[in-house]
Amino acid sequence: MAERKPLVAGNWKMNGRPADGLALARGVAERARAPHRCDLLVCPPFTLLAAVGEALSGSDVMLGGQDCHSAPSGAFTGCISAEMLKDAGCSHAIVGHSERRHTCGETDADVRAKTLAAWRAGLVAIVCVGETRAEREAGKAIEIVGAQLAGSLPDEASADQLVVAYEPVWAIGTGLTPTTADIAEIHAAIRRHLPDGTRILYGGSVNPKNAAEILALAEVDGALVGGASLKADDFWAIAQAA
Ligand code: PGA
Repeated sequence: MAERKPLVAGNWKMNGRPADGLALARGVAERARAPHRCDLLVCPPFTLLAAVGEALSGSDVMLGGQDCHSAPSGAFTGCISAEMLKDAGCSHAIVGHSERRHTCGETDADVRAKTLAAWRAGLVAIVCVGETRAEREAGKAIEIVGAQLAGSLPDEASADQLVVAYEPVWAIGTGLTPTTADIAEIHAAIRRHLPDGTRILYGGSVNPKNAAEILALAEVDGALVGGASLKADDFWAIAQAA
């Protein structure tokens, strides 16, 4: 089986003005000079991509966009294409984050189109899936996530162009996490949908305290980190746990 190097990705969401965003990027780049066994990625807001890219240059920390449109260009006010992310120095694009599925009404078909757009531009797509609390309580988590994967992943997926992030909606930004047994179970189920060697990240309230336990699970290949990625020390502590 192909080796899966862990990936620790920071999703800054709508956080970061030039002063604090650049300090954070520099802080991550500086810490990343120390030896680490994982790949590192930060996904700042679009407005900071160029400046953060500059701050990361000379380090091995990669740059990603938090979303992209499916079209390469056109009359889509407020949107950013995958090609534009590539031009800004990105290697990755997050697509299908639950905050976009739930607040922007994005469907699996939208996520699939965005994944194809990321690939068209030469980016790795980080495709997010995850169940709501009601779905988990109804015992439907695996079924829901399986359906999201079936709808969101293009047939031609390959492990070098794809990362899947399992992010239970109820764990994002809440301080709650599934049990490690639940994470292990659903990651194993997700793996059955993916090409051999595809990395599966866990996301949802990962912090320096719980990272080691979660990242030690055999089927967990890294983390997608929101809140804790906004502090260089916390993000680095999670990277160290990977
Ligand atoms: P959180 O966010 O770490 O703040 O829970 C994770 C995410 O939404 O990617």
